[in-house]
Amino acid sequence: PHAVVVAGARPNFIKIKPILDALDAEGFRTTLVHTGQHYDEAMSEVFFADLGLRPPDHHLAAGSGSHAVQTAAVMTSFEPLLDRLAPEIVVVVGDVNSTLACALVAAKAGVPVAHVEAGLRSGDRSMPEEINRVVTDHVCDQLFATSPDAVEHLYREGLPPRAVHLVGNVMVDTLLACRDEALGRPTLTELGLHPGGYGLVTMHRPANVDDPDVLAGLLGALGEIAVRCPLVFPAHPRTAARLAGMLPPGVRLLGPVGYLDSLALQAGARLVLTDSGGVQEESTVLGVPCLTLRDSTERPLTVTEGTNRVVGRDRRVVVTAAFDTLERPPAPRRPALWDGHAARRIARILARVVAPPPEPGRP
Ligand code: UD1
Ligand code: UDP
Repeated sequence: PHAVVVAGARPNFIKIKPILDALDAEGFRTTLVHTGQHYDEAMSEVFFADLGLRPPDHHLAAGSGSHAVQTAAVMTSFEPLLDRLAPEIVVVVGDVNSTLACALVAAKAGVPVAHVEAGLRSGDRSMPEEINRVVTDHVCDQLFATSPDAVEHLYREGLPPRAVHLVGNVMVDTLLACRDEALGRPTLTELGLHPGGYGLVTMHRPANVDDPDVLAGLLGALGEIAVRCPLVFPAHPRTAARLAGMLPPGVRLLGPVGYLDSLALQAGARLVLTDSGGVQEESTVLGVPCLTLRDSTERPLTVTEGTNRVVGRDRRVVVTAAFDTLERPPAPRRPALWDGHAARRIARILARVVAPPPEPGRP
């Protein structure tokens, strides 16, 4: 059978690598569609190189824009392509606009859609990703969950239990496959960093970086933390555009780094401060303390079975939590199902549920 796999943004590339490999191993023909939501070398190509991903078969060049403009650009390019490709299944991952756009197009074209990372819920509808998660899950036919809480959300929303599969976390598949290579790189040495001698910051949520007062408060907190633990901050382009002249001393700005460098920087950090979904999960698996600069998380397993604490964005609360974590770091733990085999489970289930095309000459 033929599977179309969609990726558009940085975290998508990391998630599709093991899925493509596992689908290939199960005998699927795979077509990789890059929507072009992320397009800078440091937001796209570097991941293909780091992960050994094959080049996309189709590139939709959707680019940036408002939510409606970007989602519509992906939809209008994907619709005729899907019509031509006529696959047995479309696979979408994560919660970005490209995920929603392609799921919606496929569902309306009558092509079965699988959502990998289904059922995550922050409960916060002011996050664009939360809208994308809910709508995507409700138009998809196969729902692959990373955690029991996600399964519960899908059941509670009335989605059919036979569509819901608890399979683990493809982000962790990629991490475990790449960890040795990442740790063998000279990332820290080249930046003059020592393991355990710095903290890592990533921030790109609109709620944190688009409002100058909120951003100033968070940067104030980072400045206080940096007095005790110097920080490195590889900034997402959304954030970099807003940081000019605002960085406190002790906080070192970098451009966005590649995947292997990101893993190396996390693994060597004494503390991670982030609003990223993927980084909450990776820090848990790497056993590195993480403070999440948001009011909620859609990944509660990283708190209950990992090293994450959700601390919000209040300057005093963030600084107190950081000092506390530096003095008393949490013990490393890893959720049981995050074992590196999620993509294989997904491919096996898809091989079972996706009807192979009829052989030529047979009805
Ligand atoms: C998107 C996802 C977010 C995800 C993040 C991963 C949505 C709604 N948001 O957020 O869930 O966590 O990707 O990184 O889908 N830009 C560049 N170069 C690029 C890409 C973007 O300069 O290659 C700049 C543009 O100014 C653009 C802005 O970043 O307007 C935001 O990009 P966009 O894809 O709309 O959202 P992200 O903030 O990247
Ligand atoms: N990441 C990266 N370079 C960076 C920042 C993050 O490679 O400069 C990786 C990170 O290790 C994780 C993924 O990108 O694998 C997370 O993506 P992001 O934070 O952009 O999106 P989210 O997970 O929040 O949707």
